[in-house]
Formats: sequence, structure tokens, C-alpha cells
Amino acid sequence: MFFLEWMEVNGKGNLEVEGYDLVELAREYGTPLYVYNEEQMRRKCRNYVDSLRANYPDGEIIYAGKAFLVKAMCRLLAEEGLSLDVVSGGEIYTALQAGYPMERVYFHGNNKTPQELEMALDMGVGRIVVDSIMELDLLNGIAAKKEKNADILFRVKPGVSAHTHSYIQTGQMDSKFGLGIEDGQAMEAVQKALDSSYINLHGIHCHIGSQIFDVQEPYRLVAQKMVGFLNEVRENAEVTLQELNVGGGLGIRHTSQDSPVAIEDFVQIVSEAVRQECEKNNFPLPKLMMEPGRSICGEPGITLYTVGNIKDIPGIRTYVSVDGGMMDNLRPALYNASYEAVLANKATESPEATVTVAGKVCESGDVLIKDLEIPSPERGDIMAVLTTGAYHFSMYSDYNRNPRPPVVFLRNGQAKEVVRRETFEDIVGMDIIPSEFEEGGNE
Ligand code: LLP
Repeated sequence: MFFLEWMEVNGKGNLEVEGYDLVELAREYGTPLYVYNEEQMRRKCRNYVDSLRANYPDGEIIYAGKAFLVKAMCRLLAEEGLSLDVVSGGEIYTALQAGYPMERVYFHGNNKTPQELEMALDMGVGRIVVDSIMELDLLNGIAAKKEKNADILFRVKPGVSAHTHSYIQTGQMDSKFGLGIEDGQAMEAVQKALDSSYINLHGIHCHIGSQIFDVQEPYRLVAQKMVGFLNEVRENAEVTLQELNVGGGLGIRHTSQDSPVAIEDFVQIVSEAVRQECEKNNFPLPKLMMEPGRSICGEPGITLYTVGNIKDIPGIRTYVSVDGGMMDNLRPALYNASYEAVLANKATESPEATVTVAGKVCESGDVLIKDLEIPSPERGDIMAVLTTGAYHFSMYSDYNRNPRPPVVFLRNGQAKEVVRRETFEDIVGMDIIPSEFEEGGNE
């Protein structure tokens, strides 16, 4: 019935995940609520790890924390044997606080601050993925001052455009991320790194974009360009770099219209492409890293809302408003992304209405789903919006000061809260009223 085969309907006609009734869950924790099928998330982690092991001699799966990162997630990743990609001091700190092994952390970003670079060196992150020549100079200076070595990869632009939304395309030459291969900047950076006694250059990284469905051709090109560059480095600089990180990007199902490639097929396609290019260039197989985010945590995530006001505009549309919106899901407003939703308390009822699901923030563009077919909606219904695990919680906006929803993991009939709901006290907790301001307001 549902395009996510692990969703079930119980005897009460309610939606159920991992043996847990989502209507009960909404009652227990309130709404809006971010829910994760922890078992599915773990399976996807294992799927990546096992597939890479089966297809390639030396590999590593690095989870892209930007998709969804909280302390419990760091623990889950460590248990499943995944490394971690972070992009800020805040994400490094999250990993640190969770006791995640720092040597398995990859630090990315196009503008790491000096403080963040210092933090990375002090905490002993495994690799810093250097994005520009200016950043290399900055890092070199910081490492020299600390008399520490920095283990790095270079982020390069392979000049490959993936078929995805232009905001989440990153592999093309006109991108703020990475060093161009074509314009010679990547090679210049390699020479510079090799000349420094504080920099250990291990390899190269790229990421061509996100939510990619058509993987075969773009990743074949990535393998061609990246291994080609490793080969050029071997010829020009006489060094054989041993690490190749091809980024993330695999698309997921947001609606029944989407049919992404399976994780195991994606890993096989990428592994095969890299092998072939290495053979062609007679280049020893480097360690292969893949960096998925969305394809691990996206589909296992669901957001639960309570239906509030329903406004029928005759001849135009019916707005069904929920108690969340663009604050907990920026993606429809930002990328025109589509979603499917189910009334969790009416999961066996047939669709009777075509509605527009609106959020509650003061913005006309705060629409989550257009033309959704659902059973006749009523105030108090619990709406489950599907596939909201990646880039939702992590992109939360506190516009209108609505408390950020909690996060609950479900597995084996058990619910575990991994983030509590923000309170009004939390919201005003960082506000300061300067002492010069009159007590009690106006005179
Ligand atoms: N590695 C790097 C360096 C990245 O920049 C990204 C995503 C990934 C890995 C993981 O890509 P994934 O497997 O999740 O596609 N906010 C946007 C997505 C931005 C992606 C940023 N980078 C969205 O909601 O669609």
C-alpha cells in the first residue's frame, strides 16, 4: 500500500512503524515530532558497508552528518562502523560529546574558520578536506605554530554536473566548493602541500551533487576525472596518492514517482567505475571512500503533525494547516520538493479530498504539499509526512520562534527520545536585556 514497505497499518487502522503505533507516539511526545525508523537506518548503514566490502578491496563509508546529526546518531554510526563527515565546529563538538572516535572524522567546508581548523587539529580529526589554496596556507600556518601535522585530502571539482536541483549541484566548475582540475588550481595545491613539512596529503575528494537518480554516467565520469587526476599527480609530482573520496549523492524516494537506484547497485557501479579507470591508467587501486547522507537517514524519517484549521476556498483549494511547516521542513520552499503524506489515524480509509497542506508560519510560501489526496480531514488528525529524515531537522529554522520538535527513534516496538522538545525557556535562553534598558518597559 505504501511506497515505503516497512510502514504498516495495525488493527485500529493506525499507521505503525517497527511495531509502534504512530498515533500513540504523537499522543506521548506531542507534535510536530521527528520520528526515525532506527532499524531501517541501521540496515542502510550495513548495506553500504557490506556492499563496499563485497565490491572493493579497501573502502570506507563516511556518513555525511549535515543530513542529520545528533549525539545518538554518532553512537549509532560508531556501532555500525561508519566514519563521519562534519562541516563545522558545532558538528565536531557533537561528535566529541558523543564519544565518537575523532580519527574517523573528516572535516569538510569551503570556509573553515581559523578557530575551527585549530579545533580540528587539537581534537585530532582524521582528515581535513582542504577546499582552496588560501585554506591550505591558513592550515599550514596553524599546523606550524602548533608543531602538529595536518592529514588532508583536497576537494576538487571534477567538472561533472549531475541532474539535480541547481542549488544542490556542486561538481561543476562554477561552484564555491573545491579546486578546479581544469584550471590547474588542484595541481598547484598538490605541489604546495607536498612542499610543506606540516601537511600530509593523502588523496582527493569530490562531491558532485545530491538527490541524484541517474547515477551511472555521472559517477563513471567522476571516476574518469578523479583517477585521471591521481594519475596526473603521479606523473607530475611523482607521488602516488592512496585515498579517493567520491562524495555522496544517491537519491531517495520522496513520492511513489521516485525510483532511485538501490544502495548495493550504487556501490557496485561506483566501485566498478573506479576499478576500470585504475586499470586503464595502470594506477594501483586507492582506498575508496563514499560519503552518503540522505540515502541513510532520509527515507527512515517521518514527521508527525496535528491537523488544525481547515479552510475551504470554494472553487480554488482547501488548505489543511498543520502545527509545523517550513521551520521543520524547508525543502518545499527552497527546492520545490515534493512529499507524500498519510493520515496516521485514518490509514485504512480511502482518499476523499484533494488538499494543500500548509504550515503555521507567517509566510504564504509555507506550503508543505500541494494536491495531496487524503481521507476527509478533521481537526486533530495526525498527519505523517514521509521521507523527512535528511536535511529537515538539520535545516530547522526558528522563524516565528516555534519550539524545535523532539526526535524519537523507533526500533523493535520501543521508542527512544534522542532530542527533547525545545521549550519556551530555551527560546529566550540566549536573549539578553541590556542593563541600560528600563525595567518593566515604557516610562
Ligand atoms: N559529502 C559532501 C562533501 C557533501 O557536501 C554532501 C552533501 C554529502 C557528502 C552528502 O550528500 P547526500 O548523500 O546526502 O546527497 N540541503 C540539500 C542537500 C545539500 C547537500 C549538501 N551536501 C537538500 O535538502 O536537498
